[in-house]
Amino acid sequence: MIAKWICAGQDIGSVSPDFTKEIKLAGKVKSATLCVSARGLYCAYIDGKRVGKQVLTPGWTSYDVRIQYQTYDVTGMLTENSSVISILAGKGWACGNLAWRKNSHLYGDFPAVIAWLDITYVNGEKEHIKTDETWSVSTSEILDSEIYHGEIVDKTVSAKNVGHASLIDINAKLIGQVGVDIIEHERVAAVRAFTAPNGERIVDFGQNMTGYVEIRVKGERGTRIVIDHAEVVDKAGNFCCGNMRSARNENTYVLSGGDDVFKPRFTFQGFRYIRLKEFPFDTVDKDMFTAVAVYSDIRRTGYFACGNEKINQLYHNVLWGQRSNYLDIPTDCPQRDERLGWTGDAQVFCATAARNFDVRQFFGKWLGDMAIEQAKRGDGGVPNVIPDVLRNGAVSSAWGDAACVIPWEIYLAYGDRKMLTEEYPMMKKWIDYIRHRGREEYLWIDDWHYGDWLAMDVEGDGNCSGATQRDLIASVYYARGVANVIKAGKALNEDVTEYETLYAEIKKKFHENFMENGLPCMSKIVSLRSAKNLEEQKKIDAISQTGIALILTFGLYDGEAEKKKLVDKLCSMIHDNGDRMTVGFVGAPIILSALSEGGRPDVAYTLLFQEKMPSWLYAVNHGATTMWERWNCIKEDGSFSSFEMTSFNHYAYGAVADWLYGTAAGIRLLDDGAAYTHISLAPIPDRRLGFVNCKIETARGAVVSKWYYSGDGIHYEFTVPDGTTAEMKLPDGTEKTLTAGEYLYVTAV
Ligand code: BGC
Repeated sequence: MIAKWICAGQDIGSVSPDFTKEIKLAGKVKSATLCVSARGLYCAYIDGKRVGKQVLTPGWTSYDVRIQYQTYDVTGMLTENSSVISILAGKGWACGNLAWRKNSHLYGDFPAVIAWLDITYVNGEKEHIKTDETWSVSTSEILDSEIYHGEIVDKTVSAKNVGHASLIDINAKLIGQVGVDIIEHERVAAVRAFTAPNGERIVDFGQNMTGYVEIRVKGERGTRIVIDHAEVVDKAGNFCCGNMRSARNENTYVLSGGDDVFKPRFTFQGFRYIRLKEFPFDTVDKDMFTAVAVYSDIRRTGYFACGNEKINQLYHNVLWGQRSNYLDIPTDCPQRDERLGWTGDAQVFCATAARNFDVRQFFGKWLGDMAIEQAKRGDGGVPNVIPDVLRNGAVSSAWGDAACVIPWEIYLAYGDRKMLTEEYPMMKKWIDYIRHRGREEYLWIDDWHYGDWLAMDVEGDGNCSGATQRDLIASVYYARGVANVIKAGKALNEDVTEYETLYAEIKKKFHENFMENGLPCMSKIVSLRSAKNLEEQKKIDAISQTGIALILTFGLYDGEAEKKKLVDKLCSMIHDNGDRMTVGFVGAPIILSALSEGGRPDVAYTLLFQEKMPSWLYAVNHGATTMWERWNCIKEDGSFSSFEMTSFNHYAYGAVADWLYGTAAGIRLLDDGAAYTHISLAPIPDRRLGFVNCKIETARGAVVSKWYYSGDGIHYEFTVPDGTTAEMKLPDGTEKTLTAGEYLYVTAV
């Protein structure tokens, strides 16, 4: 007999049901394992003690197809005679409100759980206890919980038994945990409590993050603490949560009268500040509050420090952007009514992510769901969010391209052939999808796309898609995807002849259609879509910074002379714009390397150090502690960009850290050197950065690159771990192949 899915079986409103079973032990326990899952979220307890340190279990997968269960060793938790197992359930991602369309109950109307406990007694006998209709259901102190809207906990209510559980059919496949555990990480003390000009009481934790606030309190029974959350205060210093859109982010706690410790179990918030909407005391003791960062248990692997404090803060913001958005799936942001697995954001940041932290397993799970969602569509298209909770059929280049970008980047970082083998069919299907779209086999013309999202080359907050031709972006990404299929296929010893021919055709066609006199031109194949949309046409430029950066980065130019012309043009566009870029989600991750690879690291550094908007340091100067969604989330006059879409915790622009690792420090993976077996060490120092101290921990040891100015020389120090071969190249022309060891070079400035 296998365990059965159970639910409350009657309407208990929004209260979290508690499923319990009292068990009588037949003897001394040698070992015991508890496996639990839920449609929704669950917390398991044995005799009132929480099982496991994971939170927000069972995590987020494509629930209609697969749901994870977690396995816990509970040997030490079972008492001699009898024990009570209890499983508390919340709505979570599966049954709560999701996405800004106010979708609810996407995978079911109410939570359900399943569990089995396998006991081996000292005498060798075994016992198996499973969820079934003999389990009891009662109400609980959690009166409501929603991912977006927060949780209500009332310590004064007593649980009411509402009878036996009912069975429910759930067709999704139950799978053991494949992702990374979500756990509590940093505990951040409040830095100050203050009364805002409008009289509201606010607590500031000094760091924007994802998680929740733990409150330790003793107060009169029945009194309430109600907090909501914000990332910013406005220019007057008042609490500001307008950018959360419909997400209420409000936690309510009713005090028991004794010593209470409150924190939510089935929700999380993206915040730096809390507002005490209801608070039963006259004075605020900030030490009652601790912010707890919650994210997947990814191990830190990358370290970068330099002689410029603003760049160090930027790097800090990149790390916190990742911590805040790697909560089981790569989300766009952690605070407003989204928090979804946006594929575009994930693909532009994945290489950086894999320097900062070990994300192999993290992406293994999410890419598994991507393949599932792709298979559900049946045409090879990849939805814009994974799991596909938007269910609107939309597909966009540079978003769906995650299917070809991420598997390759993750393979390069970790060398996991098994994972790449699993993902290879998904990569090929995506290419097939593009190939059969529209009128052209070798270009991607005529489809709707997000474009160079949030680029600054079109005026106005409401113009999100930038000035770069969407068909150009789509066609470059098509080429990039095919190039990745070729690289992946070769790594797997597959025959890639077909894709090599395809690549050559795309490159030729791209050049014919998008290039004239060595520079980009308006697509010669007139897009029927934009021909119909005159407004859109007006906003498109033949030549844009992102367009050039794409052509340079993905090698779609013809020969060195054309490359130089493109680099010169890009430099002059930046110069004419006051040494500033105009790029969005597509251009920002590549513009610095397009310049440095094109022989102009000086201009790349100038962009890096730019402080006027749009720039990376503009946000740093405005007190950012995470990455902003838009270059101008806070405008020069201190007002905010449109709250329709302004997040202070979107990691996409954090992809700049890949350039810090790969060019400033010069540690770069080579295509034939997966898992850092063959790397390039080619730092490009710049006085403005002062020094660099960088380390990336690989499976075989740390790669270290340091440089600093001393006397009239530049000192370079490298560590190459066992099993790694490094192609060293210094700016003065010194070239050497290094094997394991430590090295010091001094060159003239
Ligand atoms: C998200 C983005 C996402 C975009 C699609 C936004 O609402 O927050 O990060 O990629 O939509 O362009």
